[in-house]
Amino acid sequence: PAYDLVIRGGRVATASDVFEADVGIAGETIAAIGRNLPAGRREINARGKLVLPGGVDSHAHIEQLSAAGIMNADTFESATTSAAFGGTTSVISFAAQHVGMHLPQVVSDYHALARKGAVIDYAFHMIIADPTPETLAHDIPELVKEGHASIKIFMTYDRLKIDDEPLLDILVAARESGAMLCAHAENHGIIAWMVKRLLARGYTHPKYHSISHARFSEADAFNRLIGMAALVDQPIMIFHVSTAEGAKVIRQARGEGLKVFAETCPQYLFLTAEDLDKPGAEGAKWMCSPPPRTVADQDALWQALALGDLQTISSDHAPYRFDEAGKLRAGPNPNFKQVANGLPGLEARLPLLFDAMVSKGRLGLEKFVELTATAPAKIYNLHPRKGSIAIGADADIAIWDPAREVTLSDAMMHDLTGYTPFAGRKLRGWPVTVLSRGRVVVDDGKRMAGPGSGKFLARTGGEAAKPTGRMVADMDPETNFGAKLF
Ligand code: URP
Ligand code: ZN
Ligand code: ZN
Ligand code: ZN
Repeated sequence: PAYDLVIRGGRVATASDVFEADVGIAGETIAAIGRNLPAGRREINARGKLVLPGGVDSHAHIEQLSAAGIMNADTFESATTSAAFGGTTSVISFAAQHVGMHLPQVVSDYHALARKGAVIDYAFHMIIADPTPETLAHDIPELVKEGHASIKIFMTYDRLKIDDEPLLDILVAARESGAMLCAHAENHGIIAWMVKRLLARGYTHPKYHSISHARFSEADAFNRLIGMAALVDQPIMIFHVSTAEGAKVIRQARGEGLKVFAETCPQYLFLTAEDLDKPGAEGAKWMCSPPPRTVADQDALWQALALGDLQTISSDHAPYRFDEAGKLRAGPNPNFKQVANGLPGLEARLPLLFDAMVSKGRLGLEKFVELTATAPAKIYNLHPRKGSIAIGADADIAIWDPAREVTLSDAMMHDLTGYTPFAGRKLRGWPVTVLSRGRVVVDDGKRMAGPGSGKFLARTGGEAAKPTGRMVADMDPETNFGAKLF
């Protein structure tokens, strides 16, 4: 037979079209899309099902130590298994440098963990916490050449935060090596001051975590980051936008022609600050940074997604167990500052969004595919190999039953967090069969692929990471009295 596998009779969706077709797979890639394809060695009957590109989750923390030294609940095996059960077939995780660590060693260590455990394909963003001269001049360019074409920095968190001056150095290092610069952008001083004041007055409950991240801390940091990126003409990706004001800052920057990309996450579309208001320490399960906000913010974020101000929806999977190994490390009644920040989301991301966007009709199927697979693949230069159903693309495919009704529960999740912040939600639509490079990874509730079968995706910066070529007056020798700053 011409094909190893034919997915027959489904409705195929891409970011631009929905149509009935068979999909023929030869080896690891899609070889044909058409009607009445000849029989394959194997066949999957997809009648009544949707045949979608596997999700691309471009922001997930896996086997990573938090800033405060708390270990993430997942391994590459558990995290990528849970991703696959939720219809995701590519993940961009982090190689996280802490102060004093040699970046090439960090990258090599995360590589070893992923090579051993991953069941889907993966890439890394490099977190820079210690921008030494060697890191900037030598390690970043070398590692970008090896296929790690994005850098993440934090503008907050005590042990990770990068101040303005080193941030400019990192922006230039990204520019000169052709990498995207991703940022966790919140004003550290405002948050630290709010935390101090809340705790001093005895407001220790998890719900005050949301209050400590004053809304203005987000828009303010976005403005500062965007201004610095524009100064050196470096494209940026702003992670996990949570407020209406933050989305507005991004809209304005994009309107001015700046290369600013941005994502949001399900927690900002489906949760609010009220979710943290639970008896005892329970609310810690919903604690992430930035925190969930209000229903008005949810609406503003949906609007920003509709308009293209935000281009992707990632999980920001950051799993910590709700016990002494994770969120409750400081005891059964921690103050909010002692609780590790983050939520699991690799598995629930796509079903939550499918239910909202496809089953309930908000923005529709093509936009669902775009925001969760095609756009992240393009921005991080994994496209056309990943993120679409096209001839020549990797056969990374999620076959969805649009009628299956599922109530999310802690017990059904495949990651090791032990809970999902979305438990109890009734969703319509579920990925029943998931393929990665032509291999069935998940079928009808069973994992079919072993740990270590996922592959590293080396990538260059691509179109999104290219500078605009326009220089601001301060940096332009024609208007700065001849000073050459690049
Ligand atoms: O609360 C979160 N998001 N924790 C993970 C680390 C980060 O901020 O990205
Ligand atoms: Zn080195
Ligand atoms: Zn972050
Ligand atoms: Zn994150």
